[in-house]
Amino acid sequence: MATWNLYLVSFGVFVVIASFVGIANSESVGQRPQPHPALCLESDESSDACRKIDEPLYLLYTDANNPEKYNQIFLNKNDTHRIAQANPTKGSVWKILIHGFVSNSNSSFPVNVRQAYMERTRKTGIKYNILVVDWGRAACASLDSAKNYMYDYAAKNVAQVGRHLGDLIVLLHEQDFLNLKTDVHMIGFSLGAHVAGQAGRRVWDKTGATVRRISGLDPAGPAFWAWDVVPSFMIPLRRLHRKDTQFADIYHTSELYGSDTRMGDVDFFINGGVSQPSCSPTLFTRFTPFLKTLTQVCSHGYATELYAKTINDNSMKGCMCPSYLTYTLGSCRCEDTAVLGEFTDNSTTTIGTFYIDTPDTWSFTSVWNRFTSWKELKELGKSWWDALCHD
Ligand SMILES: *[C@@H]1O[C@H](CO)[C@@H](O)[C@H](O)[C@H]1NC(C)=O
Ligand SMILES: *[C@@H]1O[C@H](CO)[C@@H](O)[C@H](O)[C@H]1NC(C)=O
Ligand SMILES: *[C@@H]1O[C@H](CO)[C@@H](O)[C@H](O)[C@H]1NC(C)=O
Repeated sequence: MATWNLYLVSFGVFVVIASFVGIANSESVGQRPQPHPALCLESDESSDACRKIDEPLYLLYTDANNPEKYNQIFLNKNDTHRIAQANPTKGSVWKILIHGFVSNSNSSFPVNVRQAYMERTRKTGIKYNILVVDWGRAACASLDSAKNYMYDYAAKNVAQVGRHLGDLIVLLHEQDFLNLKTDVHMIGFSLGAHVAGQAGRRVWDKTGATVRRISGLDPAGPAFWAWDVVPSFMIPLRRLHRKDTQFADIYHTSELYGSDTRMGDVDFFINGGVSQPSCSPTLFTRFTPFLKTLTQVCSHGYATELYAKTINDNSMKGCMCPSYLTYTLGSCRCEDTAVLGEFTDNSTTTIGTFYIDTPDTWSFTSVWNRFTSWKELKELGKSWWDALCHD
């Protein structure tokens, strides 16, 4: 009996090893290289800060004429008077913005998208209840030494932050501030996209209702890739799935930090989805590893720039096509198109994969200037580089 158990265990171990060998093999035959952050950080004891998960902060913005004013709200039935004080508009969509790794509520996302909604309100009178989720500490934003930025821990915190947000959305529903099926639109960048997925799933678990929409801005790839090859029950890092919501629209912009896996009802591959031309000014940066990281950080953030732009400009359309190669060769007739970004849900009748090359007028400088300084970008690039185990 004991021997038999041993066989079973060995077989289990074999299956696990085989799965990982399988991954390695499939990479070597031409798939994109994926970093393996989950495998290299366990031994670092200096990273406690982002292992501890604080409750996220919830900042509610409702006044477009006073765009920096917010009310903090809480996941606590006794505190709902604070929600009422913020005066959210009944029947308006709740735009719930969720940042990613080493970010917080002051980072370029969510600030750029929040400001774009405010601008639209001032231009059209359409109101939004904008809820910014700040999970900065759990996303390792508070650490100041680059060595201590720990992607792996941030990724592991996603599930708990998502459940917390899901509970808050349920509370807002119970207190009659929103309608789950029509008023909830989560927009998550990078790891934040997976937080949104978890929150949508939590709402469904507790109420049986599916939230209206999730937009995933270059959903994080590292640490979530294994879902493709290993049975999901073996993996705690659950990826955004289109069933987490009624409608999921996904924007792919970078290979290193994003993912090329289709997760939505519609998936847009922007300029091919690998890297953004406006982020790679010279050949030199493409072949210099550290600078390549910077261009990838920039390409990753491009998804948020693009989304922010579409809130006040619905002119960009993706073309349904079997592959980017077919698209660039011009051999697609583009009979099925989908408006990009904010207005995609009302334009799209077909689900599928869409391609678009963004106009050249989007110059390199316009994207890079969004980062407050070269120093900030360099720091960020360095920390991501370290976090993904490149010493
Ligand atoms: C809410 O208030 C009630 C009554 O004052 C109190 O018993 C309860 O502990 C409070 N709940 C929370 C979560 O603070
Ligand atoms: C964001 O910036 C404001 C103003 O500088 C500051 O008061 C606030 O603490 C910052 N929030 C976070 C989470 O760092
Ligand atoms: C989409 O259409 C619905 C119903 O026609 C409308 O209520 C909603 O405002 C539209 N959404 C956008 C973003 O235009």
